[in-house]
Amino acid sequence: MAVLPVAKVGNPVLRQLARPLDPAEIRSKAMQQFIEDMFETMHEEEGIGLAAPQVSRSEQLLVMGCPGEGGFPDTVLINPVIVYYGPQQEEMWEGCLSVDGLRGKVTRPSMVRVRALDRQGAAVEFDATGLFAVCIQHEMDHLIGKLFLDRMADLSTLTQLEEFDQYWRKEPTSVI
Ligand code: NI
Repeated sequence: MAVLPVAKVGNPVLRQLARPLDPAEIRSKAMQQFIEDMFETMHEEEGIGLAAPQVSRSEQLLVMGCPGEGGFPDTVLINPVIVYYGPQQEEMWEGCLSVDGLRGKVTRPSMVRVRALDRQGAAVEFDATGLFAVCIQHEMDHLIGKLFLDRMADLSTLTQLEEFDQYWRKEPTSVI
């Protein structure tokens, strides 16, 4: 197990298109170890999601997990595709382990249907809502070189952490 260094905004790896993984590669011992390292890194950094490009590997692999009420179980998504977006939109505070100290409001569809491979390389398809849906969309953006900053309709809600705690913490939030 190892905590991996997190690439920060400005690092070109965060702006690349990540490559898909093939099932044989997924089942390799090295890839299974990498997935464990990604979970360990996400927990160490107190995030609820981490995409492989954030640890400088431009591959279509995400780990997510958020225990507790309104949260979601530990999840690994490989080569994910959103096959359906729900009609409703939801605005939520987002942050990113690759963007230190900033939060901003992003509006996204509140429900998505995802098709992907799991950590064993098996096909999965499921619906996600609420924080899970937001997290999936945020993390999938990392696979196409997008950050939550790019998804803000305008920058008027951009907030530093101290000011977030002082003025906005009581609102629903997520740190992705
Ligand atoms: Ni992020």
